[in-house]
Amino acid sequence: MRTKVGVFFGGRSVEHEISVLTALQAMNAFDSEKFEIIPIYISKEGGWYTGQALMSERNYKDMKSLQAMCEEVYMKPIFGDYNLYRNKKRLFGKDVVTTLDVVIPALHGTNGEDGVFQGLLETIGIPFAGCNTLSAAIGMDKIVMKMVLEHCNIPIVDYVWFTDKQWFADRDRWADEVEDKIGYPVIVKPANLGSSVGISRADNRDEFIAKVDEASRYSTRLVVEDLVENLKEINCSVLGDCDDYMTSVCEEPIKSGKILSYEDKYMGGSKGESGMQASDKRIPAELTPEQTSRVRFLAGETFRVLSCHGVARVDVMIDDNTGDIYVNEINAIPGSLSFYLWDATKIPFDELMERMVKLALKRKREAGNKIVSYSQNIFALGGGVKGSKGAKLKK
Ligand SMILES: Nc1ncnc2c1ncn2[C@@H]1O[C@H](COP(=O)(O)OP(=O)(O)O)[C@@H](O)[C@H]1O
Ligand SMILES: [Mg+2]
Repeated sequence: MRTKVGVFFGGRSVEHEISVLTALQAMNAFDSEKFEIIPIYISKEGGWYTGQALMSERNYKDMKSLQAMCEEVYMKPIFGDYNLYRNKKRLFGKDVVTTLDVVIPALHGTNGEDGVFQGLLETIGIPFAGCNTLSAAIGMDKIVMKMVLEHCNIPIVDYVWFTDKQWFADRDRWADEVEDKIGYPVIVKPANLGSSVGISRADNRDEFIAKVDEASRYSTRLVVEDLVENLKEINCSVLGDCDDYMTSVCEEPIKSGKILSYEDKYMGGSKGESGMQASDKRIPAELTPEQTSRVRFLAGETFRVLSCHGVARVDVMIDDNTGDIYVNEINAIPGSLSFYLWDATKIPFDELMERMVKLALKRKREAGNKIVSYSQNIFALGGGVKGSKGAKLKK
């Protein structure tokens, strides 16, 4: 029997389209003799759809008519129920479309890469690939991620963070603090997006205020960082779990301006294709052997201390003036699942997907060995439960 793999993609995120590309690539990469692929597309509104029409890229030109070609489905948030149910009940016939064995979240950004969706999967208890709720949530929030990395002595650039409300209450106070701790130029970021959305540089106080105002349109949490002027960006993928992982060869993404943009990342550069794999890049990156091993070490350490799982990508920044290397961020579900980096590391895409499924099943097996409840029922002991006397249900 083939393993039934539910691939979830799309989603309520600014990276919706990128997720569609990642999923199409991943679904096509699976060995179809071993795996049956069930595509589950999450619309921008949050509806779930399945159907063969989801397998071909050209159908995504008109997402509304694509949805009409598909069946609307859902899963119940009940532990152990791996069924995919149809929304519209049939008079005759089954309400279950299929039963999944394992889930691959191929979602990017909010509601998919940040632990929100993983929480649902953990509630159901279905094996799934990639970071769990905790590590995805930490990885997605640039502020909490920095706090953990800092604590674990992983080098990061200086930063200041605040909420939008704190910012609007006293802009000058935060500008003072940023000038005091970092100094211009700085880079302003919403803490939990991706794909460079809302990110920009500020060279003086006026620009700073304008850029933070702009970033605050995207997120309630904001982070300001020291800007690395002579920046060489290097990405390295990590595969495994925090106890046993390997790192890929490194890539250097090529940017058209000073900041790697959405267009640089996904619009295919010179190749005219779309998706992360199509962007302009150097693989392997031009680094000294010492730099390469330092980058791979830091990527692995970042993956380990954040308790990541499956395939992730760690992006580092090299200051070409000083040679200093900083970890910039981790992508819990990297664009194109970083298959092009694994391909260059002699792990072809079909094998990468098989490894992800195996890692998902392994984590589920290991979770099964942990105690999650006591068989003793305190209500059956007599004597009552402290504090519960007279408790009434609210009307
Ligand atoms: N501290 C920094 N100094 C210089 N450039 C930066 C810095 N942080 C980010 N950038 C530029 O902005 C881009 C996007 O920032 P990043 O933190 O990776 O956000 P995202 O999650 O949107 O990818 C980076 O790829 C890099 O080009
Ligand atoms: Mg990035």
